[in-house]
Amino acid sequence: MSGHGTPIPMTSRTAGVLSGVAEVPGDKSISHRALILGAMAVGETTITGLLEGEDVLDTAKAMRAFGAEVTRDDDGTWHVHGVGVGGFAEPDQVIDCGNSGTGVRLIMGAMATCPISATFTGDASLNKRPMARVTDPLALFGARAVGRAGGRLPMTIVGAADPVPVNYTVPVPSAQVKSAVLLAGLNAPGQTVVIEKEATRDHTERMLAGFGATVTTEETNEGRVITLTGQPELTPQAIAVPRDPSSAAFPVCAALIVPGSDVLVPGIGLNPTRAGLFTTLREMGADLSYENEREEGGEPVADLRARFSPAMKGVTVPAHRAASMIDEYPILCAVAANAEGRTTMEGVRELRVKESDRIAAMADGLRACGVTVEDGDDWMEIVGMGPGNVPGGATCASHLDHRIAMSFLVLGMSTLAPVSVDDGAPIATSFPIFEPLMAALGAKIERIAM
Ligand code: S3P
Repeated sequence: MSGHGTPIPMTSRTAGVLSGVAEVPGDKSISHRALILGAMAVGETTITGLLEGEDVLDTAKAMRAFGAEVTRDDDGTWHVHGVGVGGFAEPDQVIDCGNSGTGVRLIMGAMATCPISATFTGDASLNKRPMARVTDPLALFGARAVGRAGGRLPMTIVGAADPVPVNYTVPVPSAQVKSAVLLAGLNAPGQTVVIEKEATRDHTERMLAGFGATVTTEETNEGRVITLTGQPELTPQAIAVPRDPSSAAFPVCAALIVPGSDVLVPGIGLNPTRAGLFTTLREMGADLSYENEREEGGEPVADLRARFSPAMKGVTVPAHRAASMIDEYPILCAVAANAEGRTTMEGVRELRVKESDRIAAMADGLRACGVTVEDGDDWMEIVGMGPGNVPGGATCASHLDHRIAMSFLVLGMSTLAPVSVDDGAPIATSFPIFEPLMAALGAKIERIAM
């Protein structure tokens, strides 16, 4: 879906305690991968717990355009009849990935070693984001890309008719780039090797192994070396998508900063490549516990319990943790503003090329709410004001970024005056039930006319 239509301004104010059970939707990263790998298997993959947010629905639509049959039962079970590795058909329309960097980059990888062309576009946010980080390695397989200046969408990828395998060291910590190379490597003969210096989310590797591909990961002095044997026949799977830790972060952090709160967020994926926020919150002194730890569908899962934590202290979040919490810095900012002392976030340059420049978006909005923030090219520091002391009373720009919108709405649950966002519509990309879920816990978020 391109653009989000009419902006939906929203405001959030302090209410009573937040309490109850917050059943957040399925994991966005795993949902995209389930649809794409399902489309590359031979036969029928079933998916339960799929995130039905706009980003993932755009990927489902794209898989249909490449020839897979994708259907949904009334009970929310999805079926993907795959066309096999290398079996993608040439789409007869432009592929619109809406707001989703993950969707477009993974799909570009998956089609880049097929003898077809496809043209990709997105919304105003996605069309500003860099694609060369993906098209550079795809060129090594023999694919060609023609896009706008600076490697931006809209862009056409001409897939390699005779792909060669690739050995590629990912220059920035990015699971999207790693995954694009691995998905391209599926239809190249021989072994494709991806090296990442810092571990990023490993859902693609786990799911590839689940679908029957031969994929190994080795920790070496150079970093993690992932080796994939190309041209396997992928066996369809029954995938149960765990709930998204990046969405869980919002009710968890809200409970930590709203006096008297006690919230249970069940069934959250706690893959260590995703759990950095929860480590950081515990270091800050958050009353956050893991209950009922278990494994589901090859991913570690637990129920998270968060209670109001009035004694949280600022910490330094080290650069080496950035990849494991890259989507959670905006909501950490809301917590940091309510802690005592400074929270310093190091090595976060990648935040500048997300759905928005998240360092700038959070710094501007926090300052408007009365919080002191310092920032540089790849770092940011927030001077905590202590629990309940943030003035608020501002309207913050969400810049077509779901996580910026949700972070300021959560902040508004703790501030002296309400906090508004100019546009909450992008929330539907990843967390379409955010408003009713937070309302059921006791939050007061309203849509407003501006
Ligand atoms: C994702 C990887 C991350 C993350 C994004 C989801 C994925 O992006 O920010 O929300 O599913 O692979 P980068 O690869 O750009 O770090």
